[in-house]
Amino acid sequence: MIFNQLFDDKSSTYTYLISSGKGREALIIDPVIEHTKKYIKILKDLDLRLVKVIDTHIHADHISGLNELNKQTACTRVMGENSESEVVDIRVADNEKIKIENVELTTIYTPGHTECSYSYLMYGKVFTGDTLLINGSGRTDFQGGSARDQYNSIFGRLLKLPDKTLIYPAHDYNGKKFSTIEDEKNNNPRLQVSSPDEYIEIMNNLTLTNPKMMDVAVPANKKGLFLKEVPNVE
Ligand SMILES: [Fe+2]
Repeated sequence: MIFNQLFDDKSSTYTYLISSGKGREALIIDPVIEHTKKYIKILKDLDLRLVKVIDTHIHADHISGLNELNKQTACTRVMGENSESEVVDIRVADNEKIKIENVELTTIYTPGHTECSYSYLMYGKVFTGDTLLINGSGRTDFQGGSARDQYNSIFGRLLKLPDKTLIYPAHDYNGKKFSTIEDEKNNNPRLQVSSPDEYIEIMNNLTLTNPKMMDVAVPANKKGLFLKEVPNVE
């Protein structure tokens, strides 16, 4: 099994490159457009054929590499059925299978951070996007976000997975690479609540500023930007 966790310093985004082995089909989750060359090099070095690329949701803090990877490799672009992206080939619903050679992922619809947020379960690992983060959870104050939906996604779906399930989020800002359902249940400060209303209260009082890239990234990710079109944003 090839399981590569890559990191974008600028947006603290984790990207995952997955394959059952050298010379086989591969899948990328949440690529960052500026690292396209690096992904292509890894694919080449390992003799992998990229067949699918997934965005867990429309990102607001970086430009996705989904469309550029499609242009360069003809891979299939996957997002949730209610994604506002114009450049999706397969729109998944809840509890569907995404397959590449010898690897299967199951979709879990987990709205809350955005309306189109999906998580993906793969043999004891769950890619949670920004729904459930390590010691945190994705903000719910824009892009159709809803703290109540997120409570239901986290408590009703993700925390129902076996305790030992490994969590791989789309971001971490503190150098942590993964966690477990058990650890988050016990230690995530946002999850130490006794009712949905208590969770909503926490989320409604985060007083966060908008991501720096938001005004650029959201429209770019809906339209599907190519690398040569990426604006120079600081
Ligand atoms: Fe996000």
